[in-house]
Amino acid sequence: MKRADQYDSDEHLCWYLSRPSDELTDAVRSGWLGGLGTVVDLGCGLGSELSYLAGLGWSGLGVDLSEGALRRARVAVPACQFARADVRRLPVHDGWASALLDRGCFHYLQPADRPRYVSEARRALRSGGRFLLRACLPHRPSADPMSEEYLRDLFHDWRIHSITERGIPVDRGQLRAIEARLER
Ligand SMILES: C[S@@+](CC[C@H](N)C(=O)[O-])C[C@H]1O[C@@H](n2cnc3c(N)ncnc32)[C@H](O)[C@@H]1O
Repeated sequence: MKRADQYDSDEHLCWYLSRPSDELTDAVRSGWLGGLGTVVDLGCGLGSELSYLAGLGWSGLGVDLSEGALRRARVAVPACQFARADVRRLPVHDGWASALLDRGCFHYLQPADRPRYVSEARRALRSGGRFLLRACLPHRPSADPMSEEYLRDLFHDWRIHSITERGIPVDRGQLRAIEARLER
């Protein structure tokens, strides 16, 4: 049976943030994300993070599997491109992106699929490009191995600037996540 689109109901409100995330604004204001360039948002949802970067002058591409999200993102953020694609197979040339974002998509993948995600992110990002990843932690006991150590291991051939467990803001409160600042 086809799974209902989380953006055709209120289900997406549990992670929705109507302003740019603190993690992203910190990465921009500190200069960590780098100068203006091309950014891909992996699992972009409604495109809120791209909207902020586009307003600063970045060129953005949002990738998501949800038709409902993409339909709304295209209206809300006309300055960016949006593509229906799987984050394990990004519709960009090698090294096209000077930065990558992921706020809450990585943990959707099965652990067995995550190495493919990591190698695809590596392919899409130019050498020296920055990747701001926020991987959510499970709410309840789970078989998911997500942890700081797990991410260090998966991204062992990247330069790891920081990996920190923290609360990330959503309109309805906070989610527990691991923020990773990575460099290819
Ligand atoms: C928790 S939501 C976060 C959305 C957005 N980044 C935000 O901050 O609001 C996760 C998103 O990842 C998308 N997604 C899940 N698995 C995906 C995959 N394999 N490829 C592309 N998008 C995926 C979902 O459709 C959803 O929009």
